[in-house]
Amino acid sequence: MKTVCEKYWKHDMPDSYKFEVNWKHYFRITRMKTTFLKRVIQYGEIKKGTRVLDIGAGGGTDSMPLALMGAEVTALEYNKSIACNLVDYIEAMRKYTGKKPSIKVIVDDFMDANLKKGYYDVVISNGVLEHYLNEDERKDFIKKLFYVTKKGGYIITGVPNGKHPYRKLFREKEYGGNNKSLPELNYDKELFEEYFGKCMVDGIYLFMWVFSFPVLLSPLKYLILPFYTIIRLYESCFPRWFRRKYGFWLLCVVRK
Ligand SMILES: C[S@@+](CC[C@H](N)C(=O)[O-])C[C@H]1O[C@@H](n2cnc3c(N)ncnc32)[C@H](O)[C@@H]1O
Repeated sequence: MKTVCEKYWKHDMPDSYKFEVNWKHYFRITRMKTTFLKRVIQYGEIKKGTRVLDIGAGGGTDSMPLALMGAEVTALEYNKSIACNLVDYIEAMRKYTGKKPSIKVIVDDFMDANLKKGYYDVVISNGVLEHYLNEDERKDFIKKLFYVTKKGGYIITGVPNGKHPYRKLFREKEYGGNNKSLPELNYDKELFEEYFGKCMVDGIYLFMWVFSFPVLLSPLKYLILPFYTIIRLYESCFPRWFRRKYGFWLLCVVRK
């Protein structure tokens, strides 16, 4: 992983993960939680003081809404420029709400970071594990996930669904974080089961991007978009087999 990380993530990316804080943005992140976050909130029972570790936090897509709910978030991000954007985002949010969200930013590699054993109630990593190509490094990463999580706490990991019928196309078009220059593993529920074994509580296939590809390409985009949004909001109403087949993102929930 180190080689992959250094090559792909350690260069300056000053324009990545920049958020502008205004009423629209605030409304979206507080009222329209992503499906990933909904599951984190559900399993992690997020409330004031819940200790969350966000590994590969990026610009704070997940850290910020959780911190606004009162969680004490540690955001670990080893790309300096992206971490700087997160610091700016926290400051912008402080100015907007008049209250500083509790996000401690650490610029480090998860594998090198000095983190307390069994400290976190919930440990999340969204869009990170699929880049660990080397099996030994992947296993070390998973071992450390367990190390930092408290007994009874949750580890929630999100990766692209390696079995999605559009997977190749998504990567070619670089949709939804699928950067084709970034080598990625094709995950499925079985692979997660192999790594997390009996601790795995749930393997949930999320819908989110299943229709985005045709939607974004369509000239009727603005007509279709409201339906797409409804599907996103109510995706858990769709049968499991359907989501399993067409869900773009796979979420693995593990209880220590
Ligand atoms: C695809 S982005 C996802 C960002 C964020 N989780 C989100 O969902 O928007 C992956 C991020 O993880 C960071 N990252 C990857 N491996 C990491 C590691 N071992 N330690 C810390 N950060 C890491 C990268 O720098 C990048 O910003």
